[in-house]
Amino acid sequence: MQIEFVAADAPVAAASAVGVLAFDKARLSPEAARLDAESGGVLSRAMSASRFTGAVGQTVDILAPANLACGRLTVLGAGDEAGLDAMRMETIAAYAYQGVKTSGAEQLELRLGELDGAEMASAAAFGIRLASYRFDRYRTTEKPEKRPSIRLVQIACRDPKAAQTAYAGKAGLANAVLFARDLVSEPANILYPESFARRVRELASLGLEIEILGEKEMAALGMGSLLGVGQGSVRESQLAVMQWKGASDPDAAPIAFVGKGVCFDTGGISLKSAEGMEEMVTDMGGAAAVAGLMYALASRKAKVNAVGILGLVENMPDGNAQRPGDVVTSMSGQTIEVINTDAEGRLVLADALWYCHDRFKPRFMVDLATLTGAIIVALGKDYAGLFSNDDELAERLLAASKATGEALWRMPLPPQYDKNLDSAVADMKNVGPRYGGSITAALFIQRFVAGRPWAHLDIASTAHKPNSTIPTIPSGATGFGVRLLDRLVADHYES
Ligand code: BES
Ligand code: MN
Ligand code: ZN
Repeated sequence: MQIEFVAADAPVAAASAVGVLAFDKARLSPEAARLDAESGGVLSRAMSASRFTGAVGQTVDILAPANLACGRLTVLGAGDEAGLDAMRMETIAAYAYQGVKTSGAEQLELRLGELDGAEMASAAAFGIRLASYRFDRYRTTEKPEKRPSIRLVQIACRDPKAAQTAYAGKAGLANAVLFARDLVSEPANILYPESFARRVRELASLGLEIEILGEKEMAALGMGSLLGVGQGSVRESQLAVMQWKGASDPDAAPIAFVGKGVCFDTGGISLKSAEGMEEMVTDMGGAAAVAGLMYALASRKAKVNAVGILGLVENMPDGNAQRPGDVVTSMSGQTIEVINTDAEGRLVLADALWYCHDRFKPRFMVDLATLTGAIIVALGKDYAGLFSNDDELAERLLAASKATGEALWRMPLPPQYDKNLDSAVADMKNVGPRYGGSITAALFIQRFVAGRPWAHLDIASTAHKPNSTIPTIPSGATGFGVRLLDRLVADHYES
């Protein structure tokens, strides 16, 4: 699908699907009013014949409007005009696309008229690109009439050149989100630690420095915690290290992002039950988001030094798998009694975070992980949990969350819960009591950040949306975290 920007007064294309905006109280935008007049008031009549109020998400569809060349004319609710910002425009444009994607029309024309400049047009294109995501690599028998029909999207706006320039800066971010979604969507027989690492290696073409550590290298570093998780798998565990050096001083301390990349989580010997286990193919959503973020930073040549570290493993039961009760020694030297082999994400992060801090001495570390079912119980499917030992970092993440719509809710790290991790045989055990499960998990991880500024995002709730109602996020993999962290970096860490 191609997206281009054309002049506001470009003629309406034959047979296209055209979208125009209407604000609160069904007040037509100037461009909508112009087409309404041209077609003899068809829009006004259609709006008053329905309960259209102009709220975002509402649409009125007219087929074959008189005197216009287009096959379909859709009025898109845009809410209150004063509050129309780039993020809302992404949503409106995404609704426009969703409404016609399988209609048979091959061209969508979103007509913004003289509406505020390049940022809005660029946001519309960004929203449509995210909305058009589809993972169809393994569909071979789908009927053509079920497939999306739109091939060309035109955004008619005041300054197409400026819009194109603005969008050039955002297209890389859109591609990065789609890259992350693809990784999460891939089944575990295709995407396992080594093949994941190969896809990451390909990002070297964007200017990223990529290193891949195998089991031998990790054993030499003493990463007994991460390696124990992958021990039952025939797939070799990997640690991917991605570096982007965009700051004027290439030796300036970087910021760092660490992702849980459990390519499949069976639970191991503490085996999960069959129902829904297939969803654990998404248990590398944290690593996918970090890879996506690094993609985005490199695409726009962000003026920052950033490190991305992915702990890539597969958690399987096997004759060689780690047992409940095993004690492992992490790279930090701290020992861990593995009570439950299904609490494996924290074991992976323990070594990945310690390695990150030890080697890079970053300004802060943010980890992303599909860590606990408990975070879904606590927050539902629309919020990821934010845990942090640093109020400034937490506030900045919450601000980026507001600005991008990737919702976070801050959770506590109560010191009095820390003793729940006490073990009779080792420095700690890997699970606590059932209540407050995501908090205990975060407290566990906190033991491996050496007191450095750190935030943990538990994205078990948001990495994957089987029934999405958000137009920019088609059902399935969300790419959650890429937009959020790109914004965090852009707003605070570029020189
Ligand atoms: N990958 C799961 C968490 C998860 C659950 C992600 C549902 C996405 C959807 C994680 O490794 C896990 O199994 N956590 C256990 C921890 C428990 C054994 C302490 C859980 O949440 O039940
Ligand atoms: Mn698990
Ligand atoms: Zn897991």
